[in-house]
Amino acid sequence: MPRACLPPCVAFAAILTIVLMGPTVAAEKEHLRLDIAGALPPAEAEAIYQRVRKEMAESYAPADDPVARNYPRWRRFNIAPYLSATHGNRYANNYANPKAAKAGYGKLKPGQQMPPGAVVVKDTFTVTNEGEVFPGALFYMEKLAPGRSPDTGDWRFVQMLPDGSYLGDTVGDNAADVGFCFTCHKAMAEVDFLFFLPDDYRRK
Ligand code: HEC
Repeated sequence: MPRACLPPCVAFAAILTIVLMGPTVAAEKEHLRLDIAGALPPAEAEAIYQRVRKEMAESYAPADDPVARNYPRWRRFNIAPYLSATHGNRYANNYANPKAAKAGYGKLKPGQQMPPGAVVVKDTFTVTNEGEVFPGALFYMEKLAPGRSPDTGDWRFVQMLPDGSYLGDTVGDNAADVGFCFTCHKAMAEVDFLFFLPDDYRRK
């Protein structure tokens, strides 16, 4: 039998692990677990997002999709993640690329439209009943050239899973699997099919 590792030795091993791996990596490796059930208070949801956002963005990376790659650097329009019942009851954030932001994303007046090349994104994470946090799907809409997709208001709808695979793309593979996006978004035809986000969570 090897000699047991007594408390000072355990502490030393723990310190060594942190020194070798770096505290950030050590914290990222362990899965986040929360004690609260139900909707998270905004400050708490935001703190969790700040811890997992990098891991979320990395989970979409295998797709090598320009939107998935770039959105973390775009303008974010919400102050804290909000629970989105319409997107699988996940906590969501809204981002828009410079073109969409400049064209007034979130401030469109009836009849106004986004220019081709505008992209709006929602990244999401889930919190299970047991309090575990996981990266969720990435949703995005890209405004195409006029007439490119008349059935969807010239928007391309994409849902990507957190392993970088595509659930569907309305102008690409598995278009039928994401047909439900427009079925709902068409309710907002007056403002170019955009819902924006709940009032309380808007960045002023
Ligand atoms: C049942 C209705 C519904 C369905 C289905 C739906 N959405 Fe949404 N979507 C919303 C609502 C409502 C919002 C506003 C934020 C919120 O409450 O989640 C939104 C916001 C968005 C946004 C932010 C842009 C904006 O301002 O509208 C994107 C991107 C998005 N949805 C993509 C998708 C994609 C992609 C799909 C399909 C895979 C989809 N949505 C399916 C209702 C829906």
